[in-house]
Amino acid sequence: MNAPTAPARPRIVSGIQPSGRLHLGNYFGAIREHVRLQDEAECFYFIADFHALTTLRDPVALRANVFDVAVTYLALGLDPDKALLFRQSDVPEVTELTWLLSTVTGMGLLERGTSYKDKLARGIKPSVGLFTYPILMASDILVYGSSAVPVGKDQVQHIEFAQDMATHFNQAFAPDSRVLRRPEWRLSSTPYVPGTDGQKMSKSYGNTIPLFESGKTLKKIVGAIVTDSTALGEPLTVEGCNVLALLALFMSPEELAEVHAWYAAGAKDGEPFGYGHAKLLLRDRVEGYFAEARQRRAYLVAHPEEVEAVLQASAQRARAIARGTVDACKRACGLA
Ligand code: ADP
Ligand code: TRP
Repeated sequence: MNAPTAPARPRIVSGIQPSGRLHLGNYFGAIREHVRLQDEAECFYFIADFHALTTLRDPVALRANVFDVAVTYLALGLDPDKALLFRQSDVPEVTELTWLLSTVTGMGLLERGTSYKDKLARGIKPSVGLFTYPILMASDILVYGSSAVPVGKDQVQHIEFAQDMATHFNQAFAPDSRVLRRPEWRLSSTPYVPGTDGQKMSKSYGNTIPLFESGKTLKKIVGAIVTDSTALGEPLTVEGCNVLALLALFMSPEELAEVHAWYAAGAKDGEPFGYGHAKLLLRDRVEGYFAEARQRRAYLVAHPEEVEAVLQASAQRARAIARGTVDACKRACGLA
């Protein structure tokens, strides 16, 4: 009798755009979960530089941002022996599959894209690339045969589009063999992190708390978090408080309950407690939480060749898998 085979490990794929410095929203919405998953799944993480071209036209900045994302992941604990970390553009197969998928994707589907509409509303020029962004993203996911895609809430619709594209492609070209696997989205336990102005924290809204900021600059950023104007010593509003929502990311439920009590009383240990005190507490937490990673980051910044070696070795392994999927899709369409 054959020995029972171990169930296949889930295959996780996710990407992050190199469009600016990474922030608390990126970490708690996505990166922390990405690093955690490396112990239980086959993980493919890439820096979405093709996608970044839809909004960034500065080659020097793009190169610097790509390096910064790579360094940030490695500093935050991504282990290249367990998970792949590579540049999206080092796997050109992804653009080949994008074309195949575009032939089975209706205009109407893309027109429903909330992220596209959002970007237009913010004044970003509507290029064809911006419009077809979700097809490239679906290709990213489908080309590695992903079973799950860990992302923040804002990306869920894009994964649903990828599900639709996989189904349409299979129905059109491979109804029996299902060459493309339907992926599922997966939210982190903190899928929505507010920014300093209370909107979603985002590089493009200028409301971020960057991960490795410290000292005076961090104090200034945290000091600018929007609160109501309750006078010092009065009870503070818990509901909708941005400072409290951010503090919650760093605290156990017990610690958080204690802070809630200070809010309700407008006092701590018999002294007045105001939003300014809560902000100082937040600054200390941010600084402390990322202290070790900040040190690892400094080492990696001084050793860019080590970072590049990780990106290239990972890309090579990812490419082999991508090639297999694209070849199977081409055969299914009658191309190869
Ligand atoms: P940004 O909006 O800053 O450009 P990205 O679109 O590059 O961020 O997002 C990278 C990952 O981080 C995605 O999985 C996204 O869902 C997650 N993410 C970004 N901002 C937040 C946020 N404010 N809260 C939770 N997750 C977020
Ligand atoms: N669109 C994603 C974002 O802005 C980045 C991304 C590109 C991605 N390709 C992906 C995320 C594939 C998950 C899977 O955050």
